[in-house]
Amino acid sequence: MPRYCYVNGRFLPHRDGAVHIEDRGYQFADGVYEVVTIANGKMVDEDPHMDRLERSLKELRMRMPMARNAMKLKMRELVRLNGLKDGLVYMQVTRGVAPRNHAFPSDKVQPSIVMTTKKMDFSKMKKFTEGVTVVSAPDIRWGRCDIKTVSLLPNCLAKQAATEAGAYEAWLVDQDGNVTEGSSSNAWIITKDGVLVTKAPTNEILNGITRQTILDLARQEGVSFEEREFTLEEAYEAKEAFVSSATSFVTPVVKIDDHVIGNGRPGSLSEKLLGVYQDYAAGRRSRAA
Ligand code: PDD
Repeated sequence: MPRYCYVNGRFLPHRDGAVHIEDRGYQFADGVYEVVTIANGKMVDEDPHMDRLERSLKELRMRMPMARNAMKLKMRELVRLNGLKDGLVYMQVTRGVAPRNHAFPSDKVQPSIVMTTKKMDFSKMKKFTEGVTVVSAPDIRWGRCDIKTVSLLPNCLAKQAATEAGAYEAWLVDQDGNVTEGSSSNAWIITKDGVLVTKAPTNEILNGITRQTILDLARQEGVSFEEREFTLEEAYEAKEAFVSSATSFVTPVVKIDDHVIGNGRPGSLSEKLLGVYQDYAAGRRSRAA
């Protein structure tokens, strides 16, 4: 079965999907994106992702390429065309095509929209059962990490450093020694007292949709949590750690740099939260808020 993509109003075979060389996404990374998980044929947290897309666009003074409902229909159509049951939908909106000039083009320029899908089998992921390792890297990003922009070069450099070190993720550390987040995920620790800790959503991190869902589910489960800074040193000494994102769900961390976390196996609270999140993704439970 051919794989399809969606580009500016048309469903095309994936290999034929292309945008113009003067697309501002290509020339200036002037665009935003979202990644929505499909589990059991259903979108996970579709509306929160659409809310965040609208917010990212607004913060960059861009408009939606079409109404939200129309966009949702295109997503569904692409998922159907690609026979996707489990995986993700990637969507990207840029400020459109215009002669190269740093300042914005006229309002008449149509934003570009691209959607692709990727199949993934969430049921057979070793990272959930065995956990992963992370390495630290300096956070050299800009001051608006709350916007989900495609401008991801510092994230790519950090992820490449992690990959070369044989690790799954890089945890970014700010100038005060605090862990902000991962290169493509949010960072969490569980203290010796069993308190779940993750950084509060400021402009220094992306407020992950998975992060918000996990906090909601933790609240439902009566797990105590704090949204606050934590240092790399505190993370080294943590009882448990994990990362979260649309495609990582709750992925246990068993080593940070040279420091083994707990007994080197996924911790019990991380496993519990992963289970609860998997139930949520499969539609077996819901968010309270
Ligand atoms: N990344 N922080 C960063 C820097 C991210 O890139 C992501 C997601 C997250 C987690 O957000 P969410 O829970 O909404 O997926 C946090 C996506 C998956 C990506 O770039 O592929």
